[in-house]
Amino acid sequence: MAQRSPTLLFIHGFPLDSTLWRPQMQDLGRTHRVLAPDLRGFGANAGDLPEAMTMELYANDLKDLLDHERVEDVVLVGLSMGGYIAMSFLDQWPGMVRGLVLANTRAGADDKEGVKARMEMARNAHDKGMAVIAKGMVPKLLSDRSLSSGTKLASEVEAMIARQRPMATAAAARGMAQRPDRSTWLRNVKVPTLVLTGEQDKLMPLATSQAMADAIRGATLVVLRGAGHLSNLERPDLFNQHLAHFMNRW
Ligand code: MLT
Repeated sequence: MAQRSPTLLFIHGFPLDSTLWRPQMQDLGRTHRVLAPDLRGFGANAGDLPEAMTMELYANDLKDLLDHERVEDVVLVGLSMGGYIAMSFLDQWPGMVRGLVLANTRAGADDKEGVKARMEMARNAHDKGMAVIAKGMVPKLLSDRSLSSGTKLASEVEAMIARQRPMATAAAARGMAQRPDRSTWLRNVKVPTLVLTGEQDKLMPLATSQAMADAIRGATLVVLRGAGHLSNLERPDLFNQHLAHFMNRW
C-alpha cells in the first residue's frame, strides 16, 4: 500500500511570522497537507511569553499543535531560527519526523559576541522599537539582487518585521542565545534531509550549510541562485521545486 504523504510543517524565522511561507503554502498546499503556524508571540499568536523563548519551548508548542491537529507524520521545514526549532523538535520527538528541511540555518551555538548581540537586540526591540529593527535588518536578510530588483519584497519584509511585538522579539533573541551546539548531534539524524541555502546569504555562510549537509548521512545540499537569507521568498520558484521534489519520495 502506498505510504501516505506526511504533513509539511513550516517553521518561520526571526523576527518574522507565518506569512513568510505564503508562496509555499499556496503552491505546496495544493498537493500536500501544510501547516504554517505563527510561533509564540509572533503574528497572530499572542501567547504568554517567558523572559527567554528557548528552541525547546517553541518545539513544545509545535508538538501541541500537531497533537491538536492529529498529525502523526511530519516533514519539518525550518528557515533560520525555524531550523534551530526543527532540530530541537527532531531531538525530542524523532518518531514523528519523516523528513527534515533545513533552510538558511546552522547547527552551531552563538559565541560570546553572538550572545552579546542577542542581548542588544532584546534591549533595542524594547527601547528603539520594531520599525528601527526592521530597517536595520532588511539589507542583511535579502540578497543584493533582491534588494535592487525593484520588487515589493524589501518593503514587505520590512513591514513583516515592523509589525512584530518587541516582547516576542526579545524573548526569541534570549532563547536563541541559549540554544545548544548541534554540530555533532547532526550525525544522529536518520531521516531524509534537504539542506537549502541562498548563494548570497549574508547571515549564514555557504560553508555552514555545507558542513550541515556533510554531517547528516545522505543529506542533499541545494544552493539557490540569486537568493539571500530569505531564500523561500526570494526564489520561491526554485525553493518550491526542490521541496516538491524532496516530497516526491512519499
Ligand atoms: C533568522 O532569520 O531566524 C535569524 O537570522 C536567526 C538568527 O539570528 O540566528
